[in-house]
Amino acid sequence: MAAQIIDGKVVSADVKSRVKKAVDELKDVGVQPCLATVLVGDDPASATYVGSKQKDAKEVGIVTRDHRLAASFKQNELVELVQLLNNDPAVHGILVQLPLPKHINEFAIINTLSPLKDVDGLTPYNAGMLQNGMALLKPCTPSGVMELLDYYKIDVSGMDAVIVNRSNLVGKPLAFMLLEKNATVTVCHSRTKDLDEKLRNADLVVTAVGNRQRFTLTADMIKEGAVVIDVGTARLNGKLAGDADFDSVREKASWITPVPGGVGLMTRAMLLKNTVSAASIAKEMSQ
Ligand SMILES: NC(=O)c1ccc[n+]([C@@H]2O[C@H](COP(=O)([O-])OP(=O)(O)OC[C@H]3O[C@@H](n4cnc5c(N)ncnc54)[C@H](OP(=O)(O)O)[C@@H]3O)[C@@H](O)[C@H]2O)c1
Repeated sequence: MAAQIIDGKVVSADVKSRVKKAVDELKDVGVQPCLATVLVGDDPASATYVGSKQKDAKEVGIVTRDHRLAASFKQNELVELVQLLNNDPAVHGILVQLPLPKHINEFAIINTLSPLKDVDGLTPYNAGMLQNGMALLKPCTPSGVMELLDYYKIDVSGMDAVIVNRSNLVGKPLAFMLLEKNATVTVCHSRTKDLDEKLRNADLVVTAVGNRQRFTLTADMIKEGAVVIDVGTARLNGKLAGDADFDSVREKASWITPVPGGVGLMTRAMLLKNTVSAASIAKEMSQ
């Protein structure tokens, strides 16, 4: 029987409606949640992402500040801007769009962000808090994956989970989130030995490679009834596609996320959730 679809449209709409309600409640007590976005350079994909994030924010009543800077903007100037935003009480969340131009050290910028305004959940403080199961602001994509599993009541406790990705944005934080929910987690990457065998034994497969030539998840690589979460965004015949060969994998999996219409929408929704959480934290701290 074909897998059931884990529908990012449905779940992201649910998250957004909860966020809108929380925004309205904050406004009622005089707090206007605000997200500042920072884009350095003129990469068209990054500009599109920032534009979508601002549009999403407006939809739920979050105001935005748009900082668009020339590619020649210097690292020390960017540090100063982030510090200004850190110290501005009207700004609750700061999103620095990655990747940054090569002359800027990304870690230095992320490390400058106030952990209380770090709506991407990438500061070392928030990463450490996540490892301790105590993070208030968590990275949006893995949080979105967990929200999808939760919505469809897919209990990962005791599952063997294989993540194909070890980035700070996806694989590493997701490993801690799944561990927190009692899954047994294996984190794989381009140097992993016997990846196919590991995948075939997994109850839950999360892939985030984004290059179909290098890696395509096919039906013969998964166990019958596995849950498949496809985070990858690749191009296939000019169209957006995930890592999985969707039609064949769907025949063998029990649950699967489509691309588009799956994790991508959740990443966007979780940024809104983090922004409203940051605004609530700021309000509590000011009391
Ligand atoms: N849908 C969303 O909201 C969303 C959000 C974030 C990212 N993404 C997508 O997820 C993908 C990954 O993003 P990222 O930022 O984490 O990129 P990344 O840092 O480049 O991560 C790619 C991962 O894939 C691994 N990999 C590459 N080739 C492989 C192979 N043949 N076998 C096994 N593993 C392989 C890499 O291993 P090494 O570490 O050894 O290089 C790395 O861990 C991209 O397609 C991105 O667009 C989607």
